[in-house]
Amino acid sequence: MSVEELLEFLRRLRSEDPSYVGGEVLGSMSTEPPKYLLEAYKIFVNTNLNDPVLFRNTYRLELECIEWLSKLMYGSGYGLLTYGGTESNLTALYILREFSSGDTVIAPKTVHVSIRKACKVLKLNLVEVGVGEDYIPDVNELCNTIRRYEGRVACVVMTAGTTDLGIVEPVDKLVSTCGDVDYVVHVDAAYGGLITQFISDLDPNIPVYDFRLSKVYTITVDLHKVFTPIPCSVLLLRSKELEDFITFEAPYMPLGKQRSLLGTRTGGIAATAWLAIKSLGYEGFKRLVHDLVRRADYLSSRLADLGVEVLRRHRLPIVAFRVGNARDVMRRLWDLRMYVYPTSIPNTLRVVVGPHITYEVIDRFVGVLANMLNK
Ligand SMILES: Cc1ncc(COP(=O)(O)O)c(C=O)c1O
Repeated sequence: MSVEELLEFLRRLRSEDPSYVGGEVLGSMSTEPPKYLLEAYKIFVNTNLNDPVLFRNTYRLELECIEWLSKLMYGSGYGLLTYGGTESNLTALYILREFSSGDTVIAPKTVHVSIRKACKVLKLNLVEVGVGEDYIPDVNELCNTIRRYEGRVACVVMTAGTTDLGIVEPVDKLVSTCGDVDYVVHVDAAYGGLITQFISDLDPNIPVYDFRLSKVYTITVDLHKVFTPIPCSVLLLRSKELEDFITFEAPYMPLGKQRSLLGTRTGGIAATAWLAIKSLGYEGFKRLVHDLVRRADYLSSRLADLGVEVLRRHRLPIVAFRVGNARDVMRRLWDLRMYVYPTSIPNTLRVVVGPHITYEVIDRFVGVLANMLNK
């Protein structure tokens, strides 16, 4: 086969997998990025972010992204771009283990699987604390657990935008309740990071979890969960001191060192994040996110009209809903190429309203679901 034929074969393979355009992908935290972001990625794809001497401009793009994203979280401009929430979380836990010399991570049960993975890789003991019937962690129980492990805590992990329900966990309340104990917090805002900072006017009940809280040391924010091509995430750090923990000697590199748990890292992620930030700016992101929230509100109210229970505490654009026999409903939706996701909550499915989930997609989905539930 010629290269063109092989490429054609790849295009066909891709077309058989679910597409975003047309709204087949309903439950995944990823979206169809604008073409210009893919173009930016392509321009820098063969540059190496871990070689800032050879690829000075690539590094500059990363720094500018970090500066902007850090400002969004009231930080001082430290951090690094990564390939996703999993890498950002792993890196955060590594840094905080080195910083705190603790061997224990404390987190509500709602913690994402990437934190469990990171604890396993880093040989950290993960202590999980229960959540209430409303899926919100009990701050007093968390604080008691922190006290029980005092002196051994590598970090406490809280999530801003939980994977199932998009809950922003009460980091502010934890810190004010448990301010007299020595510990630091990693906030996994992989999903919520690029959303919550733009919607405080729409939902004033979203807890503060950013660097304004002195115990927050690291924050994960994924760009690819809202807007950019996969992979694109950032790990934000409170201080330069934390960055030093991920700076490793590398005598063969022109700089003599590397900054990141990975080696070669494509500059494509910096270029695509940079263009996303420059093209939208604060106001553009705000408009985008407000639009997603309004569409999620619409989906929630259409589901409620059907008599379906919607589990949505904050106005993040993630809509979980309870249906009897959810596994069966999900299978039937998948048969129609409507790919919702399951959740860890019994009989509860999830739709993540990304830019590709239009009002038309919502109407079609709700219509199909209504027919299924009425049969
Ligand atoms: C809260 C949270 N953290 C981290 C991750 C991991 O992100 P990624 O799949 O980009 O590694 C996810 C993925 O859904 C998530 O929901």
